[in-house]
Amino acid sequence: MLAYRHAFHAGNAADVLKHVVLLDVLARMTAKDKGLLYIDTHAGAGRYALGERMAQRLGEYAGGIGALWRRTDAPAAVAFYLDAVRACNPGGALRVYPGSPRLAASRLRAQDGMVLFELHPADYRALRAEFGADAQLRPEDGFTGLKALLPPPTRRGLVLIDPSYERDSDYTRLLGCLRDALTRFATGVYLVWYPQLQSLESTQLPRRLKALAPAGWLHAQLTTAAPRADGFGLMGSGMFVLNPPYGLHDALRQALPWLAEALGAPGVARWALDAHQP
Ligand SMILES: C[S@@+](CC[C@H](N)C(=O)[O-])C[C@H]1O[C@@H](n2cnc3c(N)ncnc32)[C@H](O)[C@@H]1O
Repeated sequence: MLAYRHAFHAGNAADVLKHVVLLDVLARMTAKDKGLLYIDTHAGAGRYALGERMAQRLGEYAGGIGALWRRTDAPAAVAFYLDAVRACNPGGALRVYPGSPRLAASRLRAQDGMVLFELHPADYRALRAEFGADAQLRPEDGFTGLKALLPPPTRRGLVLIDPSYERDSDYTRLLGCLRDALTRFATGVYLVWYPQLQSLESTQLPRRLKALAPAGWLHAQLTTAAPRADGFGLMGSGMFVLNPPYGLHDALRQALPWLAEALGAPGVARWALDAHQP
């Protein structure tokens, strides 16, 4: 039984990092005419009404998109992301936060395709209401379903893997899924979001991802909160990109210091960026 609902967290600082990277990568990949397949292995509900009970309960969006909403001085990659969120909020007030499938759809073209996996029945229903026939929707396990889609017919693909990490097994399943994906489609672009926690699984994940030995990788981390004395709680998050497109590193080199200052607690905010290009 899945307990995690993204509506409690939509638009928080972790979503900001994830979605800035996603949109920047998509912009670079759609600069070429040839169609691509976008696959979201853990799609969520697609969009989130910020006035509703779940979003209001923790109010996490206030420390993410809420803190950036009125900023006009953002570096290019963040400005591009803010434009996409603003396009979902005609009228100027922040009411809706678009999830990864909605943000991706805003940049995909007629020649591209989209496959969305979501296991939670309520979020799957929301996704179906949001996309109908505009995407291939799969109420299935994204970790196991991915391999059947690889390689995509055009040999161009972007895969977002954004698990809830409700269970520690998500970390090992993620690594197994990626190992398999790379044997089928070594040149695919894979984006992995992970939480920055004080657990061994979380701290070891970047090293284990590098050990998969993709041709190139990029690792971005944004820390916004101090470690808690009880050892629990999210300090920030990371995005690990396998086969990053050219230009992403420079874009994040501009975006991350700005995001750390805008979203991080004073004296705690940190960012890190590391990459290996073939
Ligand atoms: C972090 S949320 C996704 C957020 C979304 N990617 C976004 O950025 O807007 C993770 C989602 O994965 C779903 N989920 C959990 N395990 C899954 C699995 N094995 N396969 C597919 N979906 C799963 C959860 O129900 C949840 O909606």
